[in-house]
Amino acid sequence: MEAERESETVDLTVYGEEFTADPYPVYAKLRAQGPVHRVHTADIGDVWLVVGHDEARAALADPRLVKNPRSAGWTSLEEQLIGPHLLSSDPPHHTRLRKLVTREFTMRRVEALAPRVQQITDELADAMMAAPDGRADLIEAFAYPLPITVICELLGVPDLDRAAFRHWSNEVVAPSSPEVERTAIGELAAYLDDLIEDKRCSPGDDLMSALIRTTAEDGDRLSQPELKGMAFLLLIAGHETTVNLVSNGVRALLAHTDQLADLRADPSLLDGAVEEMLRYDGPVETSTYRFTSAPVDIAGTVIPAQEGVLVATAAADRDPRHFDDPDRFDIRRDTRGHLAFGHGLHYCLGAPLARLEGRIAIRTLLERTATLELDTDPARLSWLPGLLMRGTRSLPVRFTPAA
Ligand code: HEM
Repeated sequence: MEAERESETVDLTVYGEEFTADPYPVYAKLRAQGPVHRVHTADIGDVWLVVGHDEARAALADPRLVKNPRSAGWTSLEEQLIGPHLLSSDPPHHTRLRKLVTREFTMRRVEALAPRVQQITDELADAMMAAPDGRADLIEAFAYPLPITVICELLGVPDLDRAAFRHWSNEVVAPSSPEVERTAIGELAAYLDDLIEDKRCSPGDDLMSALIRTTAEDGDRLSQPELKGMAFLLLIAGHETTVNLVSNGVRALLAHTDQLADLRADPSLLDGAVEEMLRYDGPVETSTYRFTSAPVDIAGTVIPAQEGVLVATAAADRDPRHFDDPDRFDIRRDTRGHLAFGHGLHYCLGAPLARLEGRIAIRTLLERTATLELDTDPARLSWLPGLLMRGTRSLPVRFTPAA
C-alpha cells in the first residue's frame, strides 16, 4: 500500500512559475482526487500535503503531527542558531511558552495600539498620496512599512535596525540560497542577543521588556534562548504575513471592481471583507512544517512515521465542500471556519493585531483614494517563492486622491 502511494507522488515542479502565481487550479485538481497527497517540490523536496478543509482542520489539531523537528530526527537552522519557539515546540513546552507570552501579549495591549496604528497608516497614506504622478508600489509605500513599524514599536526595536532586519526576515521566509539564509539567521540571532541585553539593562514599556520580566504564578520565566526564540518569531510572524494581507486583499479588490464599489459604498462591510481577503487569498499558503510522530491515517491515506507534512490552508479555504463557489471573491459571504490563521494549539497568536492592522489599512486606503487601480498587467507581477507565503514582491497602483 505504502509503495503504491510512493509511486503516486505528485511532482509540483512541472507546473513551474504558473503554480507560484496561481496555485488554486492545481489545488482544486488535487482536492478532487483526495484530501491528502505526497508531493515533490523544488525547494523542500518531498512532503505530504493536506488539501481538503475538514482534513486540514483535523490535521492541525492532531497531536501526532508534532512541531519539534528533533522528535522526528530532523534539524532546523532556526533551532540551531536561534533557539526553540512556539512554532517549533509541542506540549508541554509549547503550553508553557504560550502561557507566558499571553500574559503580556494581551487583547488590551493590542487594543491600546489602535490609535498608533491609525497614525502610522495616515502618515504612510499622506506620503503615498503626495506622489505627483498618482502612482506607487503599494507594498513599498504602504503594506510593508505599516506592519514592520507596528511590530518594531510593540517589541521596542529601535528605528535604525529596520533595513537590516528586512533582509534577515525575507531570508527566513523565502530564502534566496541556503548560504545566504544561514548568514542571515546568524546575524539576526546576534542582533536579538544584543536587543535582549539592552532591554535587560534599560527596560521600557514595550512587549520585549515585559516578556523579560514576566513571571507566572509558579515562578516560571522565559529563559534567554526562549526569549530569543520568542522575539524572533514575533518579529518575523508579525510583519511578513500582514504585508500580504493588505497587498493580496487590495489585489483581490482591484480585480473585482464590483466588490470594491460595494465596499466603498458601505464601509460596514469592512470586517467581513477582510475575512474574505484572508479566506480567498490569504498571506499563508501552507502551514509551517509538522512531522508524524506515528503513522497517521488521513481519510484512508496512511502517512508513515517521521515524515514531513504541510497543511495547505489556502487549498482548504477553497474547498467547495465547505465554501459555496469557493473561487468567487465575495465580501458578503459567510467566511466562518476559514483556516487563514491556522487552527488548534498553534492558532495565530497575532490574529487580533493582524485584523486590527488589516482593517485600518484597507479602510484608510479606500477613504484616501477616489480611484484606485492596478498599474500593471497582472501577468507581470513577480511572486514570492516557496509554499509558505503567498504574495507578490510589488504591487504597482494608480490612484487619484480623495478630495
Ligand atoms: C494576516 C496576518 C497573519 C496571518 C495570516 C497569520 C497566520 C498564522 C498561521 C497560519 C499560524 C499557524 C501556523 C501553523 O500552525 O503552522 C500562525 C501562528 C503564529 N502567528 Fe500569525 N499570522 C498573521 C499575523 C501575525 C502577527 C501580526 C503576529 C504577531 C504579532 C503573529 C504571530 C504568530 C505566532 C507567535 C504564531 C505561533 C503560535 C503558536 O505556535 O502557538 N502572526 N500565524
